Amino acid sequence: MLPSVLQPNETDHLPVLAHEVRELLAVQPGETVIDATFGAGGHSALLAAELHGRGKLIAVDRDPSVRPYFERFRRRATVQTRFLRGDFGVVLRQLADNHVEADAILLDLGVSSMQIDRPERGFSYATDAPLDMRMDPSAEFSARELVNEATEKELEQIFRRYGEERYARQIARAIGRRRREHPFERTGELVETIKQSIPAPARFGDGHPAKRVFQALRIAVNDELGELERALPAALQVLRPGGRLAVISFHSLEDRLVKRFLRDQERGCTCPPDFPVCVCGREPSLRALRHKAIRPGADEIATNPRAASARLRAAVKA
Ligand SMILES: C[S@@+](CC[C@H](N)C(=O)[O-])C[C@H]1O[C@@H](n2cnc3c(N)ncnc32)[C@H](O)[C@@H]1O
Repeated sequence: MLPSVLQPNETDHLPVLAHEVRELLAVQPGETVIDATFGAGGHSALLAAELHGRGKLIAVDRDPSVRPYFERFRRRATVQTRFLRGDFGVVLRQLADNHVEADAILLDLGVSSMQIDRPERGFSYATDAPLDMRMDPSAEFSARELVNEATEKELEQIFRRYGEERYARQIARAIGRRRREHPFERTGELVETIKQSIPAPARFGDGHPAKRVFQALRIAVNDELGELERALPAALQVLRPGGRLAVISFHSLEDRLVKRFLRDQERGCTCPPDFPVCVCGREPSLRALRHKAIRPGADEIATNPRAASARLRAAVKA
């Protein structure tokens, strides 16, 4: 019997933009699909069903606690399945190096509901828990090391860049003062320090006062943007001609990276704009399936408020 914290829960994850992902990835029987962010397997179940008993679904996740969800998915699946544990940037590169080819790849970025909702993972500012935030619990650095060991300047930059936090400097300084007395161990201590370091009116407007700092720390601890930068070219390499790539991002930093990557691959030519003719000879390698990012509708947001910031972009390999 699994400990209750590892028991798959049917409501753990409602796949975001499910209908749109299915339509854009247009999976056909016999194809190979890579779900590079397996989570609770919501999207995998959806995409595997499109294979109608013929084909393969490769699931990837860096978090070993998704295993029971994969086992449940495997038991129900009517197609070949495989789980590869690791960072998607690394795994996709390894698959490309091993000449694995896929027809559809999905990246549903960020943390899952089950990671946020399990207090012991330390992702949430809503419950007091150990300051952790690692998606891969075997990774070397947790939020605890970052908060206690980064310089105040580094913390300020992290809060500003990844959290767009207005009071980044004040918060970084307050953390510096507090940790000289007692190192941070728990999320609750950090939330208190954040609350005390910002002006009183800011504690009540624009969501929870610790929301942006927690997002920033999570992105830094898990090197989320670096991972995405490595994954996109690797995904392109793994795709067969005609293969589809879909990426769901949850904040503008990720979406900007995806948008820029797709635009560069669509353009092909990398010659400076003042060259009269192309000399690089590069051909476009992707074609966007929609020019604008797809956002969830009001109905989806009403049933799944966490979908509110989702943006989906998709492209087909030339
Ligand atoms: C938003 S959830 C995916 C939910 C999933 N689509 C579903 O329907 O249940 C993101 C998942 O991707 C994993 N993940 C995030 N970044 C990753 C990375 N760089 N490498 C591998 N897995 C990653 C997280 O551990 C998490 O389980």
